[in-house]
Amino acid sequence: MIRLRKLARAASVLTTPLAPEDILSLFNPVFSARQLRGIVTRVVAETADSATIFFRPGRGWKAHQAGQWARIGVELDGVRHWRSYSLSAPAGQDPAITVTDVGAVSGVLVRNTRPGDVLFLAPPQGDFVLPEHPRPLLMLTAGSGITPVMSMVRTLVPHRPDADVVLIHSARTPEDSIFREELSELADQFPNFKVTHWFTGERGRVDFSSAAMLDELCPDWRHRAAYACGPEGFLDDAEALWSAEAAAAAEGSTLTEGSAAGESHQPEGPFAADPINLIIERFTTSLAAGAGHDGGLVTFEASDREVEVDGSTPLLDVGEDAGVLMPSGCRMGICHSCLTPLRAGHVRDLRTGEVHGEPGQLIQTCVSAAAGPVNLDI
Ligand SMILES: Cc1cc2nc3c(=O)[nH]c(=O)nc-3n(C[C@H](O)[C@H](O)[C@H](O)COP(=O)(O)OP(=O)(O)OC[C@H]3O[C@@H](n4cnc5c(N)ncnc54)[C@H](O)[C@@H]3O)c2cc1C
Ligand code: FES
Repeated sequence: MIRLRKLARAASVLTTPLAPEDILSLFNPVFSARQLRGIVTRVVAETADSATIFFRPGRGWKAHQAGQWARIGVELDGVRHWRSYSLSAPAGQDPAITVTDVGAVSGVLVRNTRPGDVLFLAPPQGDFVLPEHPRPLLMLTAGSGITPVMSMVRTLVPHRPDADVVLIHSARTPEDSIFREELSELADQFPNFKVTHWFTGERGRVDFSSAAMLDELCPDWRHRAAYACGPEGFLDDAEALWSAEAAAAAEGSTLTEGSAAGESHQPEGPFAADPINLIIERFTTSLAAGAGHDGGLVTFEASDREVEVDGSTPLLDVGEDAGVLMPSGCRMGICHSCLTPLRAGHVRDLRTGEVHGEPGQLIQTCVSAAAGPVNLDI
C-alpha cells in the first residue's frame, strides 16, 4: 500500500493531465481509489444464452455470503450502465456471476466478455442468505433464478453433512437449464440433497395454485425454511400459496385438499417454533400500479436537459435516454443507489401509485415517474 502511494506521488509529479491513479491502472487494471473494479479471469458458457463470468475483485470488495448480489457496471458506447447480479460462486471463493442474455447489458456480458476485461463493481449486498442456524431447506427456482441458490447449494451441500436441502428447479427444456449437470451430480453424490428438474416444455408450469404439487414433490415442505427466486409470476404464485398456508396454519386448520378438518400443518419436532415462511429474491418488479397517469416536463437541472414525459416511465430511464449520467443499481427499488434530490414538483411511486414530493427529498428514480412538472438536482 505504502509502495503504491509512493508510486502514485511519483506518477503525480511526472505526469499531467492523467491522474496518478489512471497511470497506476495502466499497470494494474483493478487499481482505482475512486471506483471498485474487478478483472475477468474466466468465462464459461452455461446454456445457449447464459454464461458464468469469474472475476478477481480489487481492494474494497468484501467476501460475499451465499445468496448475495453485487452491482456490476459495464460501459456501452462510453456510458456506464449498472445492473445487479447474484453471485453464483460459493461463499469463500472468488466471485462469479451467471448472466442470462435478456437485454442490452446482459447481452454484452454474455456474448462479449473475455478474460482480462475490467468490470466496475460495488460490494456484495442483500439478505437472501442462508439461515443462521441449520434448518431443512426447500429451494424453489425458475430460469436464471437458480443463481443465488446455486451459491447456497455449493456452499452448503458438499461441506455440511447435516445439511438437508430439497431443490425444485424449473426451466423450459433440459438445454435451457443452467447448472443442470452439476446439480444432478451433487444429488447423486450427497444423499442430503434432492433435486427435481421441472421442464415446463414437457410438464407445464410448476403449479402453486394449491399445495398438491408440493405435497407430491416435497411432502414435508411446510416444515422447511423456503427460498424462492425466479420470474414474477412464479414468485407471486408461490407467495400466495405460502400466505394462504400460513393463514390456515394460524387458524389451526389447513387448505390442503383431503386433510381432516382442523388438522394443523404447524411444524413439529425441532422446528416447531418456526412459522411457515418463504424468503423471496426478485430480479424484476411490477411497476404497473402507478401506470397510466399524466406526466409533465422533467428538468435535469445540473445536466441542463429538459424532457416532456408520460407518467409511466421511470425517471431513471428518462434521464438515461436524455444522456444524463444517472446513478443506478437494482433498477427495482431495493438498493437505493439511484437516490436523487428533488428540487421541485411531485413524483409517483410506480409500485404503489402514491404521489409524493418535498423540495430536497431524495427520490428513487428507478421506481418514480413524473406526476406533473419535476425538477431534479442532477
Ligand atoms: C437482486 C438482483 C439480482 C439479479 N441477479 C441476476 C442474475 O444472477 N442473473 C441474471 O441474468 N440477471 C440477474 N438480475 C437481473 C439483472 O440485473 C438485469 O436486470 C438483467 O440482466 C437485464 O438487464 P439488461 O440491461 O440486459 O436488460 P434491460 O434492457 O435492462 O431489461 C430487459 C427486460 O428484461 C427484464 N429482465 C430482467 N432480468 C430478467 C431475467 N433474469 N429474465 C428475464 N427477464 C429479465 C427486465 O425487467 C426488462 O423488462 C438480477 C437483478 C436483481 C435486482
Ligand atoms: S436503482 Fe436500486 S433502488 Fe433504484
